[in-house]
Amino acid sequence: MTKPIQTAPDSKNLTKEIKNLLKNLEALLVAHFYQKDEVVNLAHFCGDSLELSRVASMSEKPLIVFCGVAFMGQSVKVLAPQKRVIMPKMSCCSMARMIDCDYFDKSIELLKSYDVENVFPITYINSNADVKAKVAKMGGLVCTSANAKNIFDFAKKQGKQIFFLPDRCLGQNLAMMDNKSSCVLGSASAEEVRKSDVICYDGFCSVHQLFSVSDIEFYRQKFEDIKIVVHPECDPSVVKLADFVGSTSQIIKYVQNLPLEQRVAVGTEFNLVNRLRPKFNGINTTFVLSSSKPECPTMNETSLQDLLDCLRAYEDGMPINEVELDSDTQKWAKIALDRMLELSIP
Ligand code: 13P
Ligand code: SF4
Repeated sequence: MTKPIQTAPDSKNLTKEIKNLLKNLEALLVAHFYQKDEVVNLAHFCGDSLELSRVASMSEKPLIVFCGVAFMGQSVKVLAPQKRVIMPKMSCCSMARMIDCDYFDKSIELLKSYDVENVFPITYINSNADVKAKVAKMGGLVCTSANAKNIFDFAKKQGKQIFFLPDRCLGQNLAMMDNKSSCVLGSASAEEVRKSDVICYDGFCSVHQLFSVSDIEFYRQKFEDIKIVVHPECDPSVVKLADFVGSTSQIIKYVQNLPLEQRVAVGTEFNLVNRLRPKFNGINTTFVLSSSKPECPTMNETSLQDLLDCLRAYEDGMPINEVELDSDTQKWAKIALDRMLELSIP
């Protein structure tokens, strides 16, 4: 069902050398679905954040070449510290960059100033390892978009208010789907914060902010029977109107199980959407749910040349962009991720 991916002819030599190096170095090449086609084409495994951290950390290969954003490579290093993890581009997800340890501490201070002392923290996997470590030290854990519901159900049983970070949209969406109240720290009043079941940090994904209610209205007016599919990083007003909400892997599965004649508009990164399915009788039935191009700039940075340069440098004993973590961060971030994995359905 998936569209065949075209590779530019001048990339053939690059591809050949990359394949040889991967073999000689006994490396596993993994890539997130938002990577360019040329990278996805070469990867041994492609997946969502949860699958990538699992597959790469459990692989027998000693070297992981990770094409994605920094927090993803870090997650593999945290889960499998004995492995070497290199990244052709060590670019940071813009949402992950919205929170660091300082902002985390300031948020906890702000909550205390509102007499909210005892929260249960959940950090979305789109955060750096030192933030995950902070969350673990407070008894909390990590979630991804694929397992968020399970983790949320677990968190609810802890009998505390949930502090969800850094994605306010995912936090609000989880609360909305479970009929729980939520607010955004910084814009909500002290009273609202005290009363809310879920307190969200004010981070967001700039790519998924692009999808709007008017995009959905446009497609529904144009094609009466169209399905609207979105990632849970979209705004709650958008998620509320969608036919299906899921992680990148869940979106792929859902769309590829629809009959090809069924029109669908998808609210996530364009690289993934464009390779979802072929045309039906020459007619395009798969649309990007936005009039502007939803491109994740950091995911799109990695090229075949970067991949080759990274492998050559490693072979020469001068690795570039190797993931390294201090032992305290390593230990506590692993606790946060292990707690998540224990609660995730394989
Ligand atoms: P997934 O875990 O669904 O792949 O999402 C990661 C991400 O960064 C989406 O923007
Ligand atoms: Fe981060 Fe958004 Fe890019 Fe995902 S799409 S990696 S959340 S900036």
